[in-house]
Amino acid sequence: MRFYEDLTKLSENRQSQRAYYIPYDSLEKALKGDRRQSKFYNLLNGEWSFKFFEHDIDVPDEITDWDSIPVPSCWQMHGYEKHHYTNINYPYPVDPPYVPDENPCGVYQTTFTIDDMWAKRETFIVFEGVCSCVILYINGEYVGYSQGSHLQAEFDISKFVKEGENILTAKVLKWCVGSYLEDQDFLRMNGIFRDVYLLSREAGHIEDIDVSADCKNIYVSCSDFEIYDMDGKVADLDEPKLWTAETPYLYTVVVKGETEYIPVRVGMREIKISDKYELLINGTSVKLKGVNHHDTHAFKGYTMSDEDLRYDLERMKELNINTVRTAHYPPTSEFLNMCDEMGFYVIDETDLETHGFVCRNTLYNWDDTTCPEEWLHSQPEWEVAFVERAVRMVERDKNHPCIIMWSTGNESGHGPNHKKMVEWIRNRDESRLIHCEDASRHDVHGVSDVVSLMYIGTEAIQTDYINNEELKYPIFLCEFSHAMGNGPGDVHDYMEVMYQYPKFIGGCIWEWADHTVVEDGVPKYGGDFGERIHDVNFCCDGLVFYDRRFKAGSLNAKYSFQYFASEYKDGKLYVTNLYDFTNLDKYTFKLVLEADGKVAAETELKLSVEPHKTLEVEIPFDLNVAAEMGVYLTLYQYDNGYERGFVQHEIEAKSLTVAEGEPFTDITEDDKFIYADMGETSYTFSKLYGNFVSIKKNGREMLDAPVKLTAWRAPTDNDRRIKYNWGVFEDNLSGVNLNVLFNKMYSYKIVDNKIIVEGNIAGISRMPVMYHTTTYEFFTSGAVKVTVDGDFKENIKCSYYPRLGYEFTLAKDNDSFTYYGMGEMENYCDMHYHTKMGLYNSTAADEYVDYIMPQEHGNHTKTKKLTMGCGLEFVGVPEFEFNVSQYTSDELTYAKHIDEIKPNGKTNLRIDYKVSGIGSGSCGPALLPKYQLGKGKFNFSFYIK
Ligand code: GAL
Ligand code: MG
Repeated sequence: MRFYEDLTKLSENRQSQRAYYIPYDSLEKALKGDRRQSKFYNLLNGEWSFKFFEHDIDVPDEITDWDSIPVPSCWQMHGYEKHHYTNINYPYPVDPPYVPDENPCGVYQTTFTIDDMWAKRETFIVFEGVCSCVILYINGEYVGYSQGSHLQAEFDISKFVKEGENILTAKVLKWCVGSYLEDQDFLRMNGIFRDVYLLSREAGHIEDIDVSADCKNIYVSCSDFEIYDMDGKVADLDEPKLWTAETPYLYTVVVKGETEYIPVRVGMREIKISDKYELLINGTSVKLKGVNHHDTHAFKGYTMSDEDLRYDLERMKELNINTVRTAHYPPTSEFLNMCDEMGFYVIDETDLETHGFVCRNTLYNWDDTTCPEEWLHSQPEWEVAFVERAVRMVERDKNHPCIIMWSTGNESGHGPNHKKMVEWIRNRDESRLIHCEDASRHDVHGVSDVVSLMYIGTEAIQTDYINNEELKYPIFLCEFSHAMGNGPGDVHDYMEVMYQYPKFIGGCIWEWADHTVVEDGVPKYGGDFGERIHDVNFCCDGLVFYDRRFKAGSLNAKYSFQYFASEYKDGKLYVTNLYDFTNLDKYTFKLVLEADGKVAAETELKLSVEPHKTLEVEIPFDLNVAAEMGVYLTLYQYDNGYERGFVQHEIEAKSLTVAEGEPFTDITEDDKFIYADMGETSYTFSKLYGNFVSIKKNGREMLDAPVKLTAWRAPTDNDRRIKYNWGVFEDNLSGVNLNVLFNKMYSYKIVDNKIIVEGNIAGISRMPVMYHTTTYEFFTSGAVKVTVDGDFKENIKCSYYPRLGYEFTLAKDNDSFTYYGMGEMENYCDMHYHTKMGLYNSTAADEYVDYIMPQEHGNHTKTKKLTMGCGLEFVGVPEFEFNVSQYTSDELTYAKHIDEIKPNGKTNLRIDYKVSGIGSGSCGPALLPKYQLGKGKFNFSFYIK
């Protein structure tokens, strides 16, 4: 056995874990808290010497030909080794505690100077994150060893350093026994990926500091300390200012040593569970609107600077997110400092996941009853490794007010070693809740304080959990609304249920940002690096893109997380404050009335509404305004100029009338075609295709191909399972094959001003899925009314269909358009809350959304009217969905990366009866039936003008 496979030697000479803090050399600096200003802090980050070895045994005694690498960084991001993305499967055999004999090793070297002031004191070195383990030498002498990638490792190097220049050498192994506990779903990277720094400490210095608080007092484990607030030293806490995510008020405790000033920021708050199983923060019931956050950067991997992390949190605030689960390991301490300061509730998670055990015998199996003894959670020799990880997290992070729950890790099964972790945490810290998703997954309740679930549907959570009276715990979704690709579409459905039940305290969307490595401008994922075992693009599942741009799904979630609700009833507005601690009078509101997308009246409002209360608001203008298409009233919330939320109310939705003129009966025909020529507009209908092959306006041809009735959409990531029921894919021929579709015309007849067609649509090799009678009715104004009376057949293979509607192929230069409908971002029947009814302009190019894996995008629901740049117009009876794209759905279906799609040189337009919703089926439940284009009869009608 190699030393790094030895479970009895998880570390050597590592300091016992203390709370994170930085000692300062003056009170002023301590209060400012900029660690780089402390004379006792020396950040060693920078360009270090580096040498990579394929095998640890190849490392020679002396290295002369060094390369260099930045610290912190992941070596895979600097040309050493190929990337590897695997979700569940371990990247090596499941043979604990052994790891592959061919174990790569990175050797790092740098120098640092100890001046005479430092030389008289003690010197410590802190590694904030090294994957998978670090063996440290100073001036050639062995100092110690540590594993636990996302945990802090501190060594006392006082006796190894000398005044003047010193040499630090660190060997980092790709794998060690701890790797078995780090089978998280991410790109597998290695190196010294977080900060490394030296601390100069006074002799006999304070080791640990424990600062806690409730709503009345602050408790400090040291005797010599002072408390400061924004205005200076605090004499007493008679009127304490409490901390919440909305009011992140912090005091600073400064602990004094002989020469050291150690600041610890503290927030006064209390966490409790009510008798209705609500989550109470300072006695108030709070809902957690959260997201799971991984450290991930398209150019830096696991390494994220304070600025990167702060940007993430700022973007989260913009999306009304108030909770972060640090999936699936503790973040940097600075990240937690920012959460304290900016106001987030945090679920801090132990660096522990053994998910790959479900696949150790080929089949995915959680082993509720069979051979659990093979799982590490049940092996006594792994107990220390499990518990140590919880201890190191809790001891490092215990002083952060933002942390409301400790999590024992993720997807590791559930066994005695977890119970030991929980026992230890409970004894150590009574003030916070304990989260243990694995216990809930295995129906073990009472170990942790909340029932925590992932990817359960909105129905099942009610029937099986919320309404199960035996479960006397808050219900929390540690993961929901899988945000992969176009989506998630179902956040609102969850939030509606959450607001309905006190016991449902909220959840965290999976996950914050897409994981990817961008090469030559193209975001890459599993399989792009030659891996034999990988999980394709399952890592590209962020609520925001890898560069943190918002997508439709982000803003849709923002709406569902927003802090006010508004209802319009009998001419009045009822505004409810969904903040838990903030009066709405802190914000500016604006009320805007629009008729046909044009502003008819607007006013600013100040609304004084206490948290959780509703106010009846008089609408200060007349809503009776003339409109052809619709009248809408929108209430906006502004936060220092930033639009934090809105609610749009439908005052009147009209059916647009088309000036038809008289029925046009002058229809002519020859062998192949039927003609309706009204002068300015003329239609040619093909007897072969059963549809239009030409539409001319003022002599100009609009069409570039025959019009077709189609049912395909390029599958979204959330369609990744149902797509095999929908279409033909080389690796799977189990679908109804709607992407190789045939339009059949059985018969046509001309009756007065109508062409009536009987037909169907069918996928290759399959029976027809839908039979229809379609009527084309011509009018002297040039308008034609299209009416499809269809019937989708029952098909056991396909529970619902992607979409149904007409595809018009127009000339490329016909790519700009104006519409009155839901915009301006893409929207679907479930994922539309970020959009509003309005009058918008756009172009085919602007409709493109660069999802990492190309897929369906750009839809618009509830459209009354669409006018293409060349004059071709579509009017809904009363509405339709549409999509304009430079790409064909076929192109989007088969391309795997953004550089593989090419515009087809045309404008591809869809006028749809219905497009199925988005949901979050990439990992979550099937799309809710109410959003499915289902079976049975339907009627769809619109005008072409
Ligand atoms: C969960 C897991 C996450 C991630 C997600 C899918 O099961 O906890 O780490 O893998 O599924 O993206
Ligand atoms: Mg996992």
